[in-house]
Amino acid sequence: MAEKTKVKAVTTRTIIESKKTGEKIAALTAYDAITARILDEGGVDIILVGDSLSNVFQGNDTTIPVTLDEMIYHAKIVVRAVKRALVVVDMPFMSYQVDTQETLGNAGRILKATGASAVKVEGGKAIVESVRRMTEIGIPVMGHLGLTPQSINKFGGYRPRGEDKEEAAAIISDAKLLEAAGVFAIVLEKIPAALAAKVTKSVKVPTIGIGAGPHCDGQILVYADMLGLTQEFKPRFVRHYANVAEEMHNAFLHYVDDVKRGKFPSKEESY
Ligand code: KIV
Repeated sequence: MAEKTKVKAVTTRTIIESKKTGEKIAALTAYDAITARILDEGGVDIILVGDSLSNVFQGNDTTIPVTLDEMIYHAKIVVRAVKRALVVVDMPFMSYQVDTQETLGNAGRILKATGASAVKVEGGKAIVESVRRMTEIGIPVMGHLGLTPQSINKFGGYRPRGEDKEEAAAIISDAKLLEAAGVFAIVLEKIPAALAAKVTKSVKVPTIGIGAGPHCDGQILVYADMLGLTQEFKPRFVRHYANVAEEMHNAFLHYVDDVKRGKFPSKEESY
């Protein structure tokens, strides 16, 4: 009988170990099964069911509107398609900021309902007690510092964070607090490369950068941005690895033209 080839799944331990071995962590977002399967087969280490699905999938301007139920719906779909990568799910706005009891209930619901391995939360000092309780009871947590899009109404824009001394010091201090609270990794979003290097040196857990320069232990991008699907969104930190929007546009034009001119389907494509 042919032996089933088993893929070695990425765990939070693998991610922590990678800081010691120096192997960079490659992470991307996904919200649907087809994308998640292709990413997984491409060797991505972490697939984040990001609350960016609010912008990318739902067409909202911010990440604020997406609900816990919607995150769970997408996370279930992604987990079903993934064999190797570690699946992490964003806790949406107001699902972990109110109190620790509610946070534990919501995080537990995410892991139980979806089969994902970890949750991600934005912020430092203000949420550190809840992070500590989650990790204590066995819920792996990824932190997220720097530009934290759920706080957009407080900051009033998407400018880089940590450019002044005070903000930079707060980011370093928050990273240490999160590490002490037991996170297995920290996302650093849109901060100066030199500050990201400092944070990366200051903590034993891996940092995963998005717009945070090359010195982080890994990198993450929103899959739709790096594929060139969200053409209107092109901050400096997004590299287009493809122009899928143009490919899709051309394919749709071609299809419509073929149908209108009676060129599709052909005899071979018919029964
Ligand atoms: O929601 C998301 O996609 C994220 C990444 C940008 C890190 O949090």
